[in-house]
Amino acid sequence: MNKSAETTSSRRDFLTRTAAASALTAAAIPPVHAGGGETIQVALIGAGGRGGGAAMDALNTKSGPIVLTAMADVFEGRLRSCHKNLSNSKKSQVDVPPERQFVGLDAYKKAMDSLRPGDVAILATPPAFRWVHLTYAIQKGLNVFMEKPVTVDGPTTRRMFKLAEEAHKKNLKIGVGLMVRHCRGRQELYERIKGGEIGDIIAMRAYRMHGPVGSAFSGPKPANENEILYQIRRFHSFLWASGGCFSDFYIHQIDECCWMKGSWPVKAHAVGGRHYRGGDVDQNFDNYAVEYTFADGTKFFYYGRTMNGCHDEFSSHAHGTKGHAIISMSSHTPGKVRTFRSHTMAQNDLIWAYPQPEKNPYQLEWDDLIDAIRNNKPYNEAKRGAEASLVTSMGRMAAHTGRVVTYDEILNSDHEFAPDLDKLTLDSPAPLQAGPDGKYPVPQPGIQKKREY
Ligand SMILES: NC(=O)c1ccc[n+]([C@@H]2O[C@H](COP(=O)([O-])OP(=O)(O)OC[C@H]3O[C@@H](n4cnc5c(N)ncnc54)[C@H](O)[C@@H]3O)[C@@H](O)[C@H]2O)c1
Repeated sequence: MNKSAETTSSRRDFLTRTAAASALTAAAIPPVHAGGGETIQVALIGAGGRGGGAAMDALNTKSGPIVLTAMADVFEGRLRSCHKNLSNSKKSQVDVPPERQFVGLDAYKKAMDSLRPGDVAILATPPAFRWVHLTYAIQKGLNVFMEKPVTVDGPTTRRMFKLAEEAHKKNLKIGVGLMVRHCRGRQELYERIKGGEIGDIIAMRAYRMHGPVGSAFSGPKPANENEILYQIRRFHSFLWASGGCFSDFYIHQIDECCWMKGSWPVKAHAVGGRHYRGGDVDQNFDNYAVEYTFADGTKFFYYGRTMNGCHDEFSSHAHGTKGHAIISMSSHTPGKVRTFRSHTMAQNDLIWAYPQPEKNPYQLEWDDLIDAIRNNKPYNEAKRGAEASLVTSMGRMAAHTGRVVTYDEILNSDHEFAPDLDKLTLDSPAPLQAGPDGKYPVPQPGIQKKREY
């Protein structure tokens, strides 16, 4: 295990050791170039739940040899357990000796340094770090798979747009973990809607309502825990780290509805509140309702709730002048997409249903990315991922401030939740400070109106 604070060897030593330790040396494997069938090396940055899943999906692609060669995380324990799981499942494709296991806030650089231009970095940390890690990946000439959301506020979205352009200029392939876009059923649904099967879309609605999820609810920081590590570990609790449960959990359905509509909304108007929170110190509301408006005046209504004992629902719908489309039925996968000639979902009004079983979109997004890398196809989802992240933040900001928020306002906002994140160390002041009662600032609609906190 290579801990940043404990690193004693130089990079030259490291490379020498690495070369000796592994059969997968740069000498043994020519650099990955488009059109080649060479072994693609993958580094995983953020070895948590999704990072482990994404690495597995990468290793499950079938278009040519692909091997996980480096891992980075801020918690040694997370890295170890992820490494163990992946090694157990994919023994022959996991070649991550201790020399290429990196721990610390700068671990991402070391993992990426061990790759060759054209290899792939998986960015699966909390989203706050996305622009920091993508900046370095582009410098190193790496292709990237990065998880959603890719930004949490206006300033980092503007930065992400620039990074998308830089990646484009370097012909780097960038995948974003909005995997529903790769679902073949949703892709056919998009074409059917565009072809007029349900007429013109006049309203959309989506629901994600269930009990508490992720780290969205947090008790006070343990006295002996580093403040920054506590906030990173509980990242759904803190707006700077994740955009809160709103951004992290609702972005998929907001994105899929806007995709079907064929445009991004121009403004959002929203309500939300915080109930039953007991001693929780996080920044989330536990219910949100957003009315998004598109340029043509049509609406998209989003409902999110994280409360036990209430009606639970997970679905997304589009209503048109000639009928209704189900975009998601009970989860991201399977989508079970369908179209109807009425709005009641009556079986005898069914026009079309995508055949079951569906392929897993988490695998398809990787098949598509690796195919683009090997065959040099245009592939850059960074701009679209940033737009989806921004529109999601627009709904969240409307709820948190109690105002109508426009796309232009949030895009041009100067409230960067975690400035200078590329310089963060464990000794830096945390991007968010608790009050004397150990609680962090919670949005106050109607009182704190310009910023979310
Ligand atoms: N596409 C999907 O359906 C989907 C599903 C789950 C999560 N996600 C996304 O994946 C990302 C991670 O979520 P998760 O559920 O895996 O969380 P997680 O906490 O399980 O994993 C995140 C990992 O990143 C590590 N980490 C944090 N900051 C780091 C840094 N600066 N450098 C290196 N490592 C760092 C953490 O220690 C942790 O191991 C989030 O953006 C989340 O929205 C996407």
